[in-house]
Amino acid sequence: MTKNDLPLVLISHKLPVDWITSLSGKCRLLICAEASTNNISELTRYINQAEGLFTLLTIKVDEDLLAGATNLRVVSNMAAGVDNIDISACSRRGIPVGNTPGVLTEGTADLTFALLLSIARNLPKATEDAKRGNWKTWSPTGWLGADLSGATLGIIGMGKIGQAVARRALGFGMQIIYMDTQPCNESEASRLAIDELLIRSDFVSLHVPFTIETRDLINAEKLALMKSTAFLINTSRGQVVDLDALNTALREGKIAGAALDVTNPEPLPPDHPLYQVPNCLILPHIGSATHHTRRRMAELACANLIAGLDGKQLPHCVNPEVYQSKQLP
Ligand code: DGY
Repeated sequence: MTKNDLPLVLISHKLPVDWITSLSGKCRLLICAEASTNNISELTRYINQAEGLFTLLTIKVDEDLLAGATNLRVVSNMAAGVDNIDISACSRRGIPVGNTPGVLTEGTADLTFALLLSIARNLPKATEDAKRGNWKTWSPTGWLGADLSGATLGIIGMGKIGQAVARRALGFGMQIIYMDTQPCNESEASRLAIDELLIRSDFVSLHVPFTIETRDLINAEKLALMKSTAFLINTSRGQVVDLDALNTALREGKIAGAALDVTNPEPLPPDHPLYQVPNCLILPHIGSATHHTRRRMAELACANLIAGLDGKQLPHCVNPEVYQSKQLP
């Protein structure tokens, strides 16, 4: 096989070469650097030639893009979440979609805890005050925060990441309650309905995927159920929280604070009112941003891609129904 016979793979972003070495000799790569800025025109231009598509969560793989994807045999998303991809549209075309679960569990749980500790102990305000010369003395009443030990953590979505957060919380002496559509056999924590969880929690941490059911799950009505001393942490998807309602709840003191790694939209524009709320900490979606985790995500995405190009079942496939009518090697 000459180099030109190798299948063409479109990759939506430039990635470190050593993260994707497993692709070498397996395909021709076309890196659509333009797509990085969410301008997918380059992807659209070449999609009809591509047999593989390697995407990040910022790239929408929808009917419009797929309409031109006449040769596409696999979509590999370098993310655990696949809400950027129209899965049914891929399935209708028999295209398997891969994702990268598992490898980002611990990194995302670590970041959740970093947010939880930061917002509980006022770190954003404390560091800002130190920098601005507002640290005049050791103040007995300055920068007071909330204790973790003995506090109740309500976990909404007790999947892998929710469970990893629960393990960390136990080490801090927290009580855990959770809400999930399924009971979690790995945990002895009580499973509650969402309203009950919100009423009882001192900290609420979100770990659900973004679906029709979870859009604006945390809205004005739900925020009103939370204690005025409670904190909200979101490292799942921005669309799960109604940001206008959160902005109002924080400004009116309905809850004590919020820490968000994800927002809707992303990026959150710099003039968004939430940036002006002192007890709201906002990060630019960095839950999985450790060297090791990001490399593992890329490697897993490559493994999915290679399997798809070889006509084999993807190691992590979100629409395995595409294999029902296929003979796999
Ligand atoms: C994912 O993989 O879905 C994460 O949001 C990326 O950090």
